[in-house]
Amino acid sequence: MGRPAYWMRIVLACLLFSITGCEDRYPEELEYYFSPHTRRPDPQTKKPAPDELTEAQLKPEAQRVLGRLLKPIFGTPAHPKVDLAQADDTLTLPDDPELAGLDAKTLEEGSRLYRRFCIHCHGIVGDGRGSTGRWLNPPPRDFRTIWFKFRSTYDPSGAVALPSREDLRRTIHNGIPGASMPSFALLSERETEAIISYVIHLNMRGRMEHALGRILVEQSDLSSGETEASAALPDILRVVVQSWTSQKKLVKPVPAAPRWPIIETASTTEEAAALMRRARDLFVNKGACVQCHGVDGRGDPREVPDNAVRRDFWGNPLLPRDLTHGVFRGGSRPQDLFWRIRLGIAGTDMPATEEKQLSDEEVWLLVNYVLDMARARPAVTLAE
Ligand code: HEC
Ligand code: HEC
Repeated sequence: MGRPAYWMRIVLACLLFSITGCEDRYPEELEYYFSPHTRRPDPQTKKPAPDELTEAQLKPEAQRVLGRLLKPIFGTPAHPKVDLAQADDTLTLPDDPELAGLDAKTLEEGSRLYRRFCIHCHGIVGDGRGSTGRWLNPPPRDFRTIWFKFRSTYDPSGAVALPSREDLRRTIHNGIPGASMPSFALLSERETEAIISYVIHLNMRGRMEHALGRILVEQSDLSSGETEASAALPDILRVVVQSWTSQKKLVKPVPAAPRWPIIETASTTEEAAALMRRARDLFVNKGACVQCHGVDGRGDPREVPDNAVRRDFWGNPLLPRDLTHGVFRGGSRPQDLFWRIRLGIAGTDMPATEEKQLSDEEVWLLVNYVLDMARARPAVTLAE
């Protein structure tokens, strides 16, 4: 009696496995589609940003042209690829560890895992408009721009640098505290790497779509737009691919803290108090942090009226962080805060600071101050 039941269980398990296995896969016929590239209107003039790309600008026929140009290079959700030779047979993927895993097999695995874990927030095309994405504040990242917030990288030319794979790994592993992005620490290393490669694929495809779409809308008619866009495609692709290489070399070194934390390393109470007074002075005066975060660090719009209308570069409302909560989205290690204050938060008003403006020592004092603000928050007492 036990034997048939045993076999039955095996058959059922296989059936179940094949069904859930199937669920992971995208339908073969599904293609990447156009989704608007929204941008914050000019804060002063309220005019639309010159680089936005909306459905009103790009009619369905033009969207189909874009799809035709991109599909041979980037494939479909079921079979994603980065096939540069389709654009220009002299183009190959640079041999760079940051571009590991852009082969079709890894991307297919990444795409499957993305579908399971990320898609409901970040969306099929990586536009941040997944089915639950619209309910979230802040909204999930649109992967189709150069703006990633939590980076260790910087570009000496002043351009926005993309994150390193290590930065993406950290975000996926830790999640984003204080935002809805959960931690995926339980994924295996291999799975995480495949997802990272897939996010990079979506970024490359999305940025190509934006650049070529802008060319299409700037031409007077669609057929000359298509000719222009196909001619420009290889060069734009080269730049987009190149922008993901050598990120390791762009990592901003974090100098050893002269005093960390001040409270424990200062030799006397007076010295600690003097250092904290200096840090406060930097926060209020030289660093001008109060312009957005307010004197008490809460960034309350009643104190800083601009905060009521502040938006990120995609156009979503965005308050500066309430620093008294001690919850930091890019990580709470002192070195994470050093990077945040030194490199700023791309895609938002939080500015980067140059060395001539604030020395490394001064940034460290601010890291101390910011972390201390959460400790110093008065305890909430229940009303009697
Ligand atoms: C429940 C929703 C949700 C899920 C699921 C989710 N994310 Fe996110 N993710 C977010 C939100 C919200 C943000 C933006 C947070 C912010 O702007 O501070 C974000 C931001 C990101 C960023 C940008 C970090 C930066 O430096 O700008 C990456 C990369 C990312 N997510 C990757 C993933 C990957 C990969 C998965 C799946 C393994 C995933 N996310 C699943 C909500 C989600
Ligand atoms: C022009 C406005 C502006 C100024 C000036 C500014 N910030 Fe910010 N800051 C922001 C905004 C907006 C955010 C939230 C960004 C986000 O949520 O994506 C932020 C976030 C932060 C965070 C949170 C980082 C995290 O991982 O969550 C810290 C810490 C911070 N700022 C410190 C500072 C310090 C220190 C200064 C002064 C040197 C400063 N800020 C100056 C606008 C500003």
